[in-house]
Amino acid sequence: AGDGDEHILNLPPWSKKLGYPVAHNPYGQPSKYESNLVRRTSPGLAATDQANVAFSPLQGMFGIITASGLHFERHHQGWVDIDPAKHRLMINGLVNKPRVYTMDDLMRLPSVSRIHFVECGANSAMEWGNAAVPTVQYTHGMLSGNEYTGVLLSTLLEDAGFDEKKAKYLLAEGADGSSMTRTIDIERALDDAMVAYGSNGEMLRPENGYPLRLVVPGVQGVSWVKWLRRLEVGDQPYATKDETSHYVDLMPDGMQRQYTSIHEAKSVITTPSGGQKLLTNGYYNVSGLAWTGRGHIKRVDVSVDGGRNWHTARLEEPVLPKALTRFNIDWVWEGGPAILQSRAIDSTGFVQPTYSQLRDARGSRSIYHNNAIQSWQVAENGEVANVHVG
Ligand code: MTE
Repeated sequence: AGDGDEHILNLPPWSKKLGYPVAHNPYGQPSKYESNLVRRTSPGLAATDQANVAFSPLQGMFGIITASGLHFERHHQGWVDIDPAKHRLMINGLVNKPRVYTMDDLMRLPSVSRIHFVECGANSAMEWGNAAVPTVQYTHGMLSGNEYTGVLLSTLLEDAGFDEKKAKYLLAEGADGSSMTRTIDIERALDDAMVAYGSNGEMLRPENGYPLRLVVPGVQGVSWVKWLRRLEVGDQPYATKDETSHYVDLMPDGMQRQYTSIHEAKSVITTPSGGQKLLTNGYYNVSGLAWTGRGHIKRVDVSVDGGRNWHTARLEEPVLPKALTRFNIDWVWEGGPAILQSRAIDSTGFVQPTYSQLRDARGSRSIYHNNAIQSWQVAENGEVANVHVG
């Protein structure tokens, strides 16, 4: 004490010289001091990195939009960078005018821009039985929020003259080697689904489906077919491999439940969160994300004592349907042990379950749609760890 802060007392070198010229980086990059904030894979999770997942670093992100370079990645057979001039979208099946669109054709059609979240159905999959992974990046990082730009499916289906009486389902097919195909029901397709070429104000990134992906708001990520090349209109579910043998819910009685694709309300505190350390006691802004596949987030409650008492968090505007919602709440840490939790309630009245409620209904050996309340235990030394409570 008494010497003062050298960073105040001494003029730093960057205040005494010219900076870099404009367009030094023609495409802007994050500061080199932010190099720790990257997508990460979980060691040993998959046999090959072509059929793997890279998790978003939720612990270091703000607001409700995921920077394009931090969007999580989930591929079944690797990602491809397709020449848009060679990409086509075909619409066939129960339509009067089967169509083949070029990207130029699609970009002439009436467009919309919408903010939505995408979450893999397998997000939090490793946590069904016990607290398994250390950080929010791994517990919840198969989640991103973006502003998508593209053409509503209702516009395309009308353009192709779909059979309004017979059409019940769509088959969406990707152009990568995984033959990713999913059934979408026609009500959902005509409601708010779209084919998107834009994300966060620029073209999609190749890892996320460039030049065209399906956006099915509220529905699990696997239905958001990337590198979308075909939509077939049909009158029955297609029962593809990715909906009959994968992405099904193993129930406690050993039966598999199919086509449970809509995300129920879920939330997580992103800071402070597992692997971080509180430095001193005193004030902290506790911040997190909440989302639901039905309607919008109505309220988020936060507990600092493992669910005994709950306090209503501030929801930051905008609160949009089927989009991430940011919440914040003031907390004064007294320095003792604490357990931080958040609980989301959506506009349908659905309340995010505790682990014991979820396991009562769904068992503990499932993979998909784990939306239980996450607990972060703060130790007396300030270290934050993943625990299962309640
Ligand atoms: N589409 C194709 N064509 N191939 C894929 O492997 N993966 C799906 C879906 N769409 C996949 C796909 C899965 S399981 C998820 S969770 C989302 O894409 C992930 O989207 P992202 O990689 O843009 O985050």
